[in-house]
Amino acid sequence: MFWHLQENVVTDSDLDLLVSFIRETKRFTQFEKVLEFEEAFAKWQGCRFCVFVNSGSAANLLLVAAAKELHGWENGSEVIVPAVTWPTTVTPVMQLGLTPVFVDANLSDLSLDYDRIEALITPKTRAIFVAHLLGFPADVTRLKAIIAGRDIVVLEDCCESQGACLGGTKVGNLGEAGTFSFYWGHHMTTVEGGMLCTDDEEMYRLCRLKRSHGLARELPPAQHGAIKEAHPGIDFNFLFLTDGFNMRNTEFNAVLGLAQLARIDDFIVQRNKNFRAFVAACSQYREELLILDRPGMSSFVLPFFFKDRQRKEAFQAVIREGGIESRPLISGNLLRQPFLSCYYNDQDFPNADFIHTNAFYIGNNQFVDGKRLDVLFPLMHDFFGSRS
Ligand SMILES: Cc1ncc(COP(=O)(O)O)c(C=O)c1O
Repeated sequence: MFWHLQENVVTDSDLDLLVSFIRETKRFTQFEKVLEFEEAFAKWQGCRFCVFVNSGSAANLLLVAAAKELHGWENGSEVIVPAVTWPTTVTPVMQLGLTPVFVDANLSDLSLDYDRIEALITPKTRAIFVAHLLGFPADVTRLKAIIAGRDIVVLEDCCESQGACLGGTKVGNLGEAGTFSFYWGHHMTTVEGGMLCTDDEEMYRLCRLKRSHGLARELPPAQHGAIKEAHPGIDFNFLFLTDGFNMRNTEFNAVLGLAQLARIDDFIVQRNKNFRAFVAACSQYREELLILDRPGMSSFVLPFFFKDRQRKEAFQAVIREGGIESRPLISGNLLRQPFLSCYYNDQDFPNADFIHTNAFYIGNNQFVDGKRLDVLFPLMHDFFGSRS
């Protein structure tokens, strides 16, 4: 393979920085660098508050836990979730005693089939947890119009779509809060890591507590005095204000995050440049391929959607021979996965089923360039041309 799904995006300069930081610092676990990374990310994202955690999945779990507590959602409250996404958009809902209500994907931005949502809303619906997939921004404006006047919030999983925008606003700033993943195949990396972004101060406060066992000392120092006074009988350093997790990340990961964040805009430009060339190449084969392209996108990968399943399998074999690695599109139709199969039926998820059987993707990142595309495009030309 010469073109892998994921590549080492940690550069020599990142490594040098890490080595000198490790030699100098006396603090390895969450401390000043984490705070500095949160502030830098908030500035880049254009939001008020950020909470750095140890994965995108942790950010999703933290978000749903905080939203549940903040809004007082009872167990069994319903959250509308996508049928196509990474499992950890959905699993926090189940793990926290809420009920997932699955909606089919759409085939224009891959998120939710907007036309099916209204029928799924019940008096128990509390949230829509939308995932912006493969760098395509979901139409949150449309979601908000559907839920207008109801006590339902929008939560955003942006783990695959850092830097994507809807009408000029970055995804993650469109709902109550958004989450990002810095796993090493993503737009930027902290090797493992995730971020939760919000403009809501109460949400931020709760997330800081829950990230770290529920400990009061995790709150901004300006708030400590009043809390100490309210709980005089408990040592402030061991005062637990709510239930929590340990989702903290380390100072090393934050140092890497700061270095990568300084280059993220360039990474996104290169990814989108590759994507534009890819779309131009695919558009010659519209008879066989469905082409997805959205304004404001921030390309995650290069996806193929074949109208015919056998042709998809044949082409996947061709590129494998050509040294290009590919994989199913995210996790396919999630409801076909064993742990969710009780939610599956074969009428309500035609688009998710189509994605499951007829789509795959190959990698895109800042190392993908004209040289690689010059290998891919002739393979496409030979394959699609051979049909006619
Ligand atoms: C849509 C989506 N949500 C959540 C995650 C989880 O992120 P992490 O791997 O950092 O836990 C991913 C991971 O790729 C993802 O694609």
